[in-house]
Amino acid sequence: MLKPIRWSNGRLTLLDQRKLPGKIRYFKPQKVSDVAHAIRTLAVRGAPAIGIAAAYGVVLALKVRAGRVKGGPAKSLEAGLEEDIELLRGTRPTAVNLFWALERMRQAFRRLPPDAGVKDAIRSLESAAVAIHKDDMERCAAIARNGARLLPDHATVVTHCNAGVLATGGMGTALGVIYEAARMGKGIRVFADETRPLLQGARLTAFELMHHGIDVTLMADDMAATLFSRLPVDAVIVGADRIARNGDTANKIGTYALAIHAQFHNVPFYVAAPATTFDLTLKSGQEIPIEERDAIEITGSVAGRTAPKGVQAFNPAFDVTPARLIAAIITDAGVIRPVNEREITRVLGARR
Ligand code: MRU
Repeated sequence: MLKPIRWSNGRLTLLDQRKLPGKIRYFKPQKVSDVAHAIRTLAVRGAPAIGIAAAYGVVLALKVRAGRVKGGPAKSLEAGLEEDIELLRGTRPTAVNLFWALERMRQAFRRLPPDAGVKDAIRSLESAAVAIHKDDMERCAAIARNGARLLPDHATVVTHCNAGVLATGGMGTALGVIYEAARMGKGIRVFADETRPLLQGARLTAFELMHHGIDVTLMADDMAATLFSRLPVDAVIVGADRIARNGDTANKIGTYALAIHAQFHNVPFYVAAPATTFDLTLKSGQEIPIEERDAIEITGSVAGRTAPKGVQAFNPAFDVTPARLIAAIITDAGVIRPVNEREITRVLGARR
């Protein structure tokens, strides 16, 4: 019911996450600019889900372009399709899954025989997008299995932002681990950061976990240290938007501070992410592009304006947690521990 992305009979349906938890509303993007707008405005969000939505966006783009020509080889549409892919690439800079998925779609188009017609091309791109979606579902399940083993019975876990069903093509990454541990009967208790400024923790994670019957308690972002000092917490588990080859991890703003608090209190800090979230071309987290979002997200809120008009705002959407603060990275290919370049290369192997 909560699936963020559906594809059936050649049509894309997205759950509008901007409206959650108040309204469960689905909409059907018709063209590539609709999908780009949905990604930019966080109607669909979370690194893997952004990649999947963009892949379907490429199929919609090809359909629209095909509808404007009368037959002929699909290759004649290549230049236009490249423009559409560029539009999607420009939506959000940090989540590497977006670029990974768009590259797969581009390659699927390039592999078409020179005389392939537009109908065949649409069919091929549709299968490529569905394969990306299915691939993420399988990776989530593998992450969940690999991660659930790390949690003791009756574990108390802290999470940040939303790395669940709503952020992926499957059961989630960080929350997938929690679902799997709960399914094994481990009786998990979760504390979810509200995740300022866009409240993905409050609006999405609390909603999603309650929907799945998981014991969840919401807290403001600056309460984790107090929680760690008062209660035995077994683990922090978060998702990732991009992981450099030394293990430095970009995730929602606030993750880095949470990792520092966790280390101070000897709480293991885990990142859960598919192999598709690694960017092995980047030496360290310093090279990860960090999205800067509109000041209004800081100067206003659902309650209207909360800061004086004209005030300057600092609004990076993500931060980078240095590898040395991460106890392990839970991936579909296995658990990376210790987190360093050698171990990342060994565990990921050819999995990407
Ligand atoms: O800005 P968002 O909501 O797209 O940020 C999402 C996150 O930071 C998630 O933790 C990350 O993408 C992992 S989702 C499995």
